[in-house]
Amino acid sequence: MKVETKNQRLTTFTNAELIKKILEFKKNKNVVILAHFYQIPEIQDIADYVGDSLGLAQNASKADVNMIVFAGVHFMAETAKILNPDTKVVIPDLEAGCSLADSCPKDKFSDFKSKYPDYKVISYINCTADIKTMSDVICTSGNAVKLVESFPKEEKIIFAPDKNLGGYINSVTGRSMVLWDGTCEVHDILSTEAIINLKVKNPEAKLIAHPECRAPVLELADYVGSTTGMLKYTMQDNSKKYIVATETGLLHQMRKNCPEKEFIVVPADETCSCNDCPYMKMNTLEKLYLCMKNENPEIILPENVIEQAKKPIIRMLDISKKLNLIK
Ligand code: 13P
Ligand code: SF4
Repeated sequence: MKVETKNQRLTTFTNAELIKKILEFKKNKNVVILAHFYQIPEIQDIADYVGDSLGLAQNASKADVNMIVFAGVHFMAETAKILNPDTKVVIPDLEAGCSLADSCPKDKFSDFKSKYPDYKVISYINCTADIKTMSDVICTSGNAVKLVESFPKEEKIIFAPDKNLGGYINSVTGRSMVLWDGTCEVHDILSTEAIINLKVKNPEAKLIAHPECRAPVLELADYVGSTTGMLKYTMQDNSKKYIVATETGLLHQMRKNCPEKEFIVVPADETCSCNDCPYMKMNTLEKLYLCMKNENPEIILPENVIEQAKKPIIRMLDISKKLNLIK
């Protein structure tokens, strides 16, 4: 079930004043603001780096600052902390979780894993630090297919927690990974009916989709990829119109990069056109300002969790570098 995002005013500052104050913190404090594409446009525009989970993890691994301000959801900020245990990592709203990460509790996953003793575990980065400690390697939507393909064909693999992404990888690689039964509440409800209606009305438009969508949606898509992948596709492709099956935040970058093109976001169903991730949208300019001012809420993790969770993330970054997916 979707959580409602009720963001009440926390200060008396206008947005223009908040932006000015955040820019001052950026100048006076040794910080970096990392933001995901699903953040509100005002946060994306003030960040030092905006990207997908892979780009954010890579930038977090390179950060040489006193404080990382992570404008995203909890698992992303946790990843930044794991990669920078000695750096303070703050997040505008500590409650900004993720339905996919929540769908995979550590005790249940541990029981599940024990049923497949000789299997490798590949976990999507949208999982808690505890799940990362139980994984052999982490992947993101930006490297998942290639990362799975880097394992021998006969390797037995558990893929967690997103069954839609896992099913998509199985379909394109011919693997039969065992899938944990988790989904993203935003992408999982994007309807094929709505897409077909949009395609009928806009026959010239291309459909691009995030692999967290269900298989029938992905089968209709002209392109399936991470947020960065979708953005690059619209920048390089010569169509003028796109039907976009993902969270609304990405359209901000698409419109900025290609103002002459038209982007239509897929409605979740006939009655709702808001594909906002309720967790991503918990972060506001006010909360961003307050977390930079107060230097909290801070991400705190036990040392042993950091040590164990770091290994599969580093393995992912190493493999991604070898495969030229990142520099
Ligand atoms: P990307 O890594 O593709 O940006 O995906 C993150 C996410 O949470 C998608 O729901
Ligand atoms: Fe999690 Fe889905 Fe929100 Fe991404 S869009 S943070 S997977 S709930």
